[in-house]
Amino acid sequence: MTRTAIVSALAEEQFGLLELLQQPQKVSHAGRDFWQGQLHGQAVVLALSRIGKVAAATTATALIERFKVSRMVFTGVAGGMADGVHVGDVVVATEFLQHDLDASPIFPRYEVPLYGQARFRCDEALTALLFEASQAGLTGLARGPRGAWSDAAVHRGLIASGDRFVSGATESRALRLALQDGGHAVLAVEMEGAAVAQVCFDYGVPFAAVRTISDRADDQAHVDFPVFVKDVASRYAQAIVHRWLKSL
Ligand code: ADE
Repeated sequence: MTRTAIVSALAEEQFGLLELLQQPQKVSHAGRDFWQGQLHGQAVVLALSRIGKVAAATTATALIERFKVSRMVFTGVAGGMADGVHVGDVVVATEFLQHDLDASPIFPRYEVPLYGQARFRCDEALTALLFEASQAGLTGLARGPRGAWSDAAVHRGLIASGDRFVSGATESRALRLALQDGGHAVLAVEMEGAAVAQVCFDYGVPFAAVRTISDRADDQAHVDFPVFVKDVASRYAQAIVHRWLKSL
């Protein structure tokens, strides 16, 4: 049986999916609650990564080792970094890197030691379907009764993860320029994806990720983030994951 893991960082992001889960069965493991069941005809396990790379890696490992999932998708929010990536837009990841990993001068900056690479690629086929589902999901939301963000865009590209909530325009710009110097043009920043991508790489599990932009990682980020997570993130996750699961 193909079992799909659907991972979110926060309960607010998972809520809409949990509501729709059929034959829900809760399993507590490694201090976390995992929800097994059926969603749109697919066997799924819903999990919360919590926040940060270590917590996310633990969750991903448990999903693979204990729940035997054969593919994984991450759905959550991120701070927009590139010009043109606005609050309410969606970024589908093609690759991840850890912006706070620096073992230089022994290894090149951002490279994960002993892997010989800084970036971890998402699964191409799952990512293509996620991109289509995101476009269709946004169109559906814009037409819906509470459809704001009708001009929202779906982007595709590199996302950077690190154990830091980026909440200052100066910090955000410095981070973006440092990454650019290293040849990495980043669309958005968050705190879990690269860890999950690395675990999935280790186990050979196909991985895809979608992030809705909750803030611009600027001086306003700490204000925008909680409002967006509470009011919007769950609806986005539901609309996109619903279409993605149906397309698998
Ligand atoms: N997730 C959402 N917004 C973020 C930000 N500004 N920094 C890190 N992770 C985030």
